[in-house]
Amino acid sequence: MSMNRRTLTASLAAATLAGLLPATVLAQKKLVLGFAQVGAESEWRTANTESIKSAAKDAGIDLKFSDAQQKQENQIKAIRSYIAQKVDVIAFSPVVESGWETVLREAKAAKIPVVLTDRAVNTKDDTLYVTFMGSDFVEEGRKAGRWLVDKMKDQKGDVNIVELQGTVGSAPAIDRKKGFEEIVKADPKFKIIRSQTGDFTRAKGKEVMEAFLKAEGKKINVLFAHNDDMAIGAIQAIEEAGLKPAKDITIISIDGVKGAFEAMIAGKLNVSVECSPLLGPQLMSAVKDIKAGKSLPKRIVTVEGIFPMEVAAKELPSRKY
Ligand code: AHR
Repeated sequence: MSMNRRTLTASLAAATLAGLLPATVLAQKKLVLGFAQVGAESEWRTANTESIKSAAKDAGIDLKFSDAQQKQENQIKAIRSYIAQKVDVIAFSPVVESGWETVLREAKAAKIPVVLTDRAVNTKDDTLYVTFMGSDFVEEGRKAGRWLVDKMKDQKGDVNIVELQGTVGSAPAIDRKKGFEEIVKADPKFKIIRSQTGDFTRAKGKEVMEAFLKAEGKKINVLFAHNDDMAIGAIQAIEEAGLKPAKDITIISIDGVKGAFEAMIAGKLNVSVECSPLLGPQLMSAVKDIKAGKSLPKRIVTVEGIFPMEVAAKELPSRKY
């Protein structure tokens, strides 16, 4: 006969009170966290998954993990299954911003707290989650834009930019575009001549860059890629087109993964704006705090830097992802 977690806890408590079990049995009950991951689309995501899994192990938290393969319906299914399993806390990194209200209401009705990690949801009701921890994606886009404005300050003619966007409808794609445009639009010489999604993957980044090169050829001065993986894919396309990445085309990307540092050291990528995937330890502390009844800030922002190619060799040995 199966026994659900609450029934089990109540039975253990009764047995403890009756002196049949030591109190430590109750104290040692592991917290259960259900985590619905976006997928495994990038080096960043792999590092994020690894951070969550290892932090759960270190914190003694029982982690139920699912990979949604970049599909919102899979994430919703996973969240519903965590609700059915009556986990203590649900956390997820929403693949896209909208369409979460119904399932979040179901979690709220089941009294299961929800933590958003990495990406935000677009909802007016902020009681549907406890806290949102992760990067400020708009600021990352601004950092990319400011770096470009400074690099091109003496350039007189037009600066033609192509943009590889992240997953359509995702918070990082929307926000990074917004932050970057906010900065470059201050000077009309900056022109975004093409902008298309590469879905945050190397393969798509390469494919879309090939199409950009076919359409615009040598007109392209700058590539702004919403993540390192797409930039790395695009670098291959640029080389195959007989051009020199980071020289013929200035390349800016976001994440700061090891692959980007290697590309910078090889002289093929100009700069990577940091976006840290190492959210695991922070998430596990939040899970413990929530269950201990402590209140958490609604927004916990990750502190991040920017790494131009000139510092890559010095920084690489200390990079953790
Ligand atoms: O949400 C963070 C973004 O998702 C990272 O920049 C990207 O690499 C990942 O897939």
